Amino acid sequence: MTGRPETQDQPKALLGRRILLGITGSIAAYKSAVLAREFIKRGAEVRVVMTPSAIEFITPLTLATLVGSPVHSDFTENKDSGEWTNHVELGLWGDLYLVAPCTAATLSAFVNGTCSNLLQAAFLSSRCPVAIAPAMDLDMYTNKATQANLKTLSERGVQIIEPQSGALASGLEGKGRMEEPEEIANFVEKYFTKELPFAGKKVLVTAGPTEEAIDAVRFLGNRSTGKMGFEIAGRLADLGAEVTLISGPVNLTTPPRVTKRIDIVTAQELYDRTVDIWPQMNAAIACAAVADMRPSTPSTEKLHKGDLPDSMRLENTPDTLLELGNMKTHGQLLVGFALESDTVEESLKSAEGKLKRKNLDMIVMNTLSDDGAGFSHDTNKVTIIQNVDGHNTTHVFELKSKREVAKDIVNLLTF
Ligand code: CTP
Repeated sequence: MTGRPETQDQPKALLGRRILLGITGSIAAYKSAVLAREFIKRGAEVRVVMTPSAIEFITPLTLATLVGSPVHSDFTENKDSGEWTNHVELGLWGDLYLVAPCTAATLSAFVNGTCSNLLQAAFLSSRCPVAIAPAMDLDMYTNKATQANLKTLSERGVQIIEPQSGALASGLEGKGRMEEPEEIANFVEKYFTKELPFAGKKVLVTAGPTEEAIDAVRFLGNRSTGKMGFEIAGRLADLGAEVTLISGPVNLTTPPRVTKRIDIVTAQELYDRTVDIWPQMNAAIACAAVADMRPSTPSTEKLHKGDLPDSMRLENTPDTLLELGNMKTHGQLLVGFALESDTVEESLKSAEGKLKRKNLDMIVMNTLSDDGAGFSHDTNKVTIIQNVDGHNTTHVFELKSKREVAKDIVNLLTF
C-alpha cells in the first residue's frame, strides 16, 4: 500500500493556495515584497502582476526572485516576437486576486471597469474572489469619491482590507497607510479558513477499493483507483471543509488541504473506522468501492499452488453506507455512489433503490455502459439523484474530467 500514514495536521489554510498578487504604484509597493515572502512562507503559490507605475517603486526582479516566477506588467511579454501575456489565464489561475497596495486610481478603474493595463484586465477576467488593500494619502482616502468607490466594490463582493492610521509618505498623519504585510497575510488566511462555503464543517469521504484476504499474499479486490473520491475530498477541502479521507489501497497523494487521512485495507476496517467517526461529522460522501464478499476463512500463510482450493467459501462484508444511513441524525448529509452496468433506465431504478434503502440524501450514479465512466479513467459521466423532503430530482451530466465531476457533485451539497 502506498500513501501517507494516518496524519492529523494543523489547519493549512494557505498551503497550495494560488494567490495572484497585484501591485499598483504607491510607495507601499515596497511592502509587497515582504507580503509575497509571507505568502510563500505559509505555503501559498504566488504570481505577481504589476502596473507600469508600480515598477517605479519596486523592481519586478525583486518580486520574481521572491515568488520564483516571472512578473507580468505588460500586455506583451516580448515586443519583438509579439508574445502577449494572457490576462484571462492570469485571472483564472488564482484562488484569490489580492491587490496590495491598491491606489485611488486603480480603485476607481475597478469600479468603472477600465482596462488600461494588465492588472486591470486581470481584475475584469478574474473569477476568483478579489481583495484589495488600499494605500493613499489621508485626504484622498476620506474623499467622498474614494469612499463611494470602496462602498461600490464592497457591495460587489470585493474584500476590503482597511488601511491603518499613522505617518504617511506625504508627511501627514492619518488613515491611508496600507495594512502591514503580516496582517494582510493573516486576513487572507482567515478568509480561506472562515469565509469559504464549508468553513467549520466536518466531512468524511471514503475512497478507493478494499482488499479481502484469501491468504497472506492473495486477495479479492476491484479496479477502483480512488481518483473520484480524492478529487471530491480535495474540492471540499478547497472550499474550507475539514475533511477526513478514509482510503483503501491506492496510489494517490493526499490533496493538500485534507485535514486527516486514514488508510484502511478491508471492508471491515472501513466499516469500523467510518462508523466510529460518523457521529462527529456534518456530512459523508461514500465513494469507496467496497468488496461485498470476503473469504470466510482466509489463510494467514501463503498457500502453495497445490493447496489452493477449487472453490472458496465467501461471506458478506458489512455495508458501511447502510449503517451510516441507519445512524444518520437530523442535519447530517449522506451521499452514496452507485456503480451500475445495466441500461440507463435499469441503472436509474437500481440507484434510486439504493438511495431509499440506505437512507441517503443523494446518490451519484455512473454506469459501465457509458464510455469513459467508472473505474480506471480520468473521466466520469454521472447522473445525480437528489432527495429533498422525500422528492427526488435527477441531474444528468456530460462526460467530464473527474476533477470537474467533483465540482458538480460538491456544488449540489448543502449542509
Ligand atoms: N457500500 C458500502 N459498503 C459495502 C458496499 C457498498 O459502504 N459493503 C457503499 C459504496 O461506497 C457506495 C454504495 O454503497 O457508496 C453503493 O455501492 P454499490 O457497490 O454500487 O452497491 P451495493 O450496495 O453493493 O449493491 P449492488 O452490489 O447490488 O449494486
